Amino acid sequence: MQVIRTIEQVRQALRPARQAGRRVGLVPTMGALHEGHWSLVDRARQTCAEVAVSIFVNPLQFGTGEDIDSYPQTEEHDLTGCAEHGCAWVFAPSPQEMYPDQVLTSVTVRRLSTPLCGRTRTGHFQGVATVVCKLLNIVLPDVAFFGEKDYQQLVVIRRMVRDLNMPVEIVGCPTVREPDGLAVSSRNAYLDADQRSRAVSISAALREAVDAVKQGAHDARRLIADAEQRITRAGPVDIEYVEVVDLDTLEAVETIDRPARMCVAAKFGRARLIDNLPLYVGGGAQ
Ligand code: PAJ
Repeated sequence: MQVIRTIEQVRQALRPARQAGRRVGLVPTMGALHEGHWSLVDRARQTCAEVAVSIFVNPLQFGTGEDIDSYPQTEEHDLTGCAEHGCAWVFAPSPQEMYPDQVLTSVTVRRLSTPLCGRTRTGHFQGVATVVCKLLNIVLPDVAFFGEKDYQQLVVIRRMVRDLNMPVEIVGCPTVREPDGLAVSSRNAYLDADQRSRAVSISAALREAVDAVKQGAHDARRLIADAEQRITRAGPVDIEYVEVVDLDTLEAVETIDRPARMCVAAKFGRARLIDNLPLYVGGGAQ
């Protein structure tokens, strides 16, 4: 496995694979790699001849007062894991390499960037779309892998690729969970023991909504109120939103008469956690 720090080198390293027609997969990450990330790498390995992981804590997508300075950095662990999971390359550039000059060009995916997390994280999805666009242009993979855990991010990236005719396939992968249901996240490290036990209420509330819809519930407002109550009952929490949205437009859905997604953001202490599940009318859970 090769660890590459510069754009020039990563282009050089991948050229032979591309020229030989070998399918190249990219898994973009911000490091502090965990089971969620490894599931993307493993999925990439199943369908690609060569897999690259990028590790870059992207300053553009953090707002003021967010956790960029304390964002966990575990490079040694990350590199060992990447090697174990069969990656050919890790691209881990410095901020200076990615942003040598003031950023004058950015990518805005309108409408999809403003609901849900976009409401409080102004500029976040512009930062995400811009860095993912750059990473795709640098690595030029055939396919790139993203988790459904960050559902809005996945929708934003799919739309960017479609609108800008970027020659890459985007694959969404299911959320990896702890045995009790909590979605695996780098930010779970911020939870103390008490918060950790209460945080499971998010996935429990989502499951209950999935079951309710399976049993015929269709009023989104009612489902949202029940989910909020389930999460609040667990103890002190700051719910940012519980919403039921259309799978593609992310617009609020009032009646579940077609597949929709329930999305939650809630803060336990300083840990801001997000999670979501599909609500299938009369169908099963993820
Ligand atoms: P990061 O939070 O490191 O996540 C990298 C990828 O791992 C994302 O596609 C995310 O959805 C996926 N992921 C995280 N937790 C997961 C879980 N429990 N199950 C499945 N997949 C999971 O998301 C980012 O980085 C950045 O915004 C990035 C796309 C790299 C742009 O900077």
